[in-house]
Amino acid sequence: MSIETIKGAFAAFRGEFTPPGDKSISHRAVIIGSLAEGTSTVEGFLSCDDTLSSAKAMMMLGVPIEIQGDSVEIEGKGLFGLSEPEDTIDAGNSGTTARLISGLLSAQGFFSTITGDQYLRVRPMERVVKPLTLMGAKIWGRDGGKRLPLAIQGSKLSAIQYRLPVASAQVKSALLLAGLYADGDTEVVEPTPTRDHTERMLSYFGVDFHKNGTSVKIASQKPFKSGELQVPADISSAAFFMVAALVNPNSEVLIKNVGINPHRTGIIEILQKMGGSIEILNERDLNGEPVGDILARSSHLKSIEIGGEIIPRAIDELPVIAVAGCFAEGETVIKDAKELRVKETDRIKAMTTELRKLGADIEELEDGMIIKGKETLKSAKCSSWGDHRIAMALAVAGTRAKGTTEIDDADCVSVSFPGFFDVMRRLRS
Ligand code: S3P
Repeated sequence: MSIETIKGAFAAFRGEFTPPGDKSISHRAVIIGSLAEGTSTVEGFLSCDDTLSSAKAMMMLGVPIEIQGDSVEIEGKGLFGLSEPEDTIDAGNSGTTARLISGLLSAQGFFSTITGDQYLRVRPMERVVKPLTLMGAKIWGRDGGKRLPLAIQGSKLSAIQYRLPVASAQVKSALLLAGLYADGDTEVVEPTPTRDHTERMLSYFGVDFHKNGTSVKIASQKPFKSGELQVPADISSAAFFMVAALVNPNSEVLIKNVGINPHRTGIIEILQKMGGSIEILNERDLNGEPVGDILARSSHLKSIEIGGEIIPRAIDELPVIAVAGCFAEGETVIKDAKELRVKETDRIKAMTTELRKLGADIEELEDGMIIKGKETLKSAKCSSWGDHRIAMALAVAGTRAKGTTEIDDADCVSVSFPGFFDVMRRLRS
């Protein structure tokens, strides 16, 4: 396990960079490309532990996929061309792989099993197992189907109308993928809108569905053709450098080609509301996904209250938003974010524990945190809790701590952003 050290020299972050490809879109590219007929190409693919779990899963289902750096070629097998995997599919640390692929496996004419690493095996799977079972899927799992490993006997599925009890793009996407095969119209209704990359990509591939407010309806599908995809850079990876630039003096960072899907831009809205100088430049479209360049400059941040509909639109960025709160004037409140407790780790507990080690004034709430801003933090030995976004958020906090901060088990950043520490060193030098 690697230890990274961050020097809290208040050094400026300056320069420009393009973050690696969007993780959510990269997962969907290999999964949906595998279901298309013919060869699909993907450029800008995020080649990281999580997305490779999805690619390997599709390869185990008989789909030839070639990955060279950020270019991928997928020989799609069509909707009905997947084959039974000989072994258990390993989703690794990736909830997106486990949940989306469970939806797909439920509709295949074969038996399969899927598991994950020690972190994923304790995360809730009932949220997909329950609605898939209502569609007629046969799924067994530990703890009455609540946890991985899952065993799935593919079956003929019936369409359902399902109201998601929690806002989750992974569950919505699992049901839409299963709905491609169900007889009739599968309708998913969300409590608050979540990222719609699955819908946008299916639409790009010519698949028909209807969206009405928070309802998405998909009909049983006919085969669809392959396509050429370009993946924008990941706003969730950009977020760490937006905050680093805002909270450090004399900083100006241009983050290029970033996906700015409105269901993902909560981070920008929140930081702007805190007084952060963030501008979106050069807005354009990439395969039905909006992209732009993001310019972030040193700013005097003030505290705000964050809760309600913006939470699902900033869910993965809340750890680094908590770091911004550490340096904002006043008391920043993050609430309605109970979902953070079932991410790669309990991110509320992880952030309050680790930021306290760094001297932050932070209170743990059942569904969030209250943070009183300070001028500086102190250095400490911190743990990533094996969670990529905790490691990166703590690294940003460490840039404004006095002395040198150590982050243990920091190589987990490879789950979403291999090369994160190199970019950090380059922009600070
Ligand atoms: C994701 C959805 C979100 C997010 C995760 C990626 C996706 O999870 O936190 O990092 O790609 O659909 P939930 O669906 O569990 O909210």
